[in-house]
Amino acid sequence: MGWYQDIAFPTLMRWNIGKNSILKKRTALLKHAYGNILEIGIGEGTNLPLYPTNITHIATVEAYPRKLKDSAIEVALFSESAAALHFDDNTFDTVVSTFSLCSVDDLEQYSPEYPCQRQVSEF
Ligand SMILES: C[S@@+](CC[C@H](N)C(=O)[O-])C[C@H]1O[C@@H](n2cnc3c(N)ncnc32)[C@H](O)[C@@H]1O
Repeated sequence: MGWYQDIAFPTLMRWNIGKNSILKKRTALLKHAYGNILEIGIGEGTNLPLYPTNITHIATVEAYPRKLKDSAIEVALFSESAAALHFDDNTFDTVVSTFSLCSVDDLEQYSPEYPCQRQVSEF
């Protein structure tokens, strides 16, 4: 943690991937989210207000947890790397990852096919 992780990085992210044109694309993507959801690298929770209204809780792993946006969604935040998830196999119906792959150190271990995803699930 420090100036870059706590101030510079979130500010740059808000200007860039928090702008309206990107929020529209996020909303279009997130409308497919259903059931038990795992969000990888949630950041400040930019996606939280954009989930379908029937989503009431999600789990998330975040390497550098920060304060999340206010939201009606209950968030179980796990401070850990997506490279080493502790969830049981077939736990999640939807795994969400937006703008996360660009900032992971261990990309080889960061998979779109996690064992914790159900066999018929969305990534
Ligand atoms: C560019 S931000 C995007 C945040 C959010 N997904 C969004 O769409 O606004 C990337 C996020 O991934 C997190 N991250 C990076 N490496 C990670 C890892 N190995 N496991 C979990 N989160 C990670 C970063 O801390 C950061 O919050």
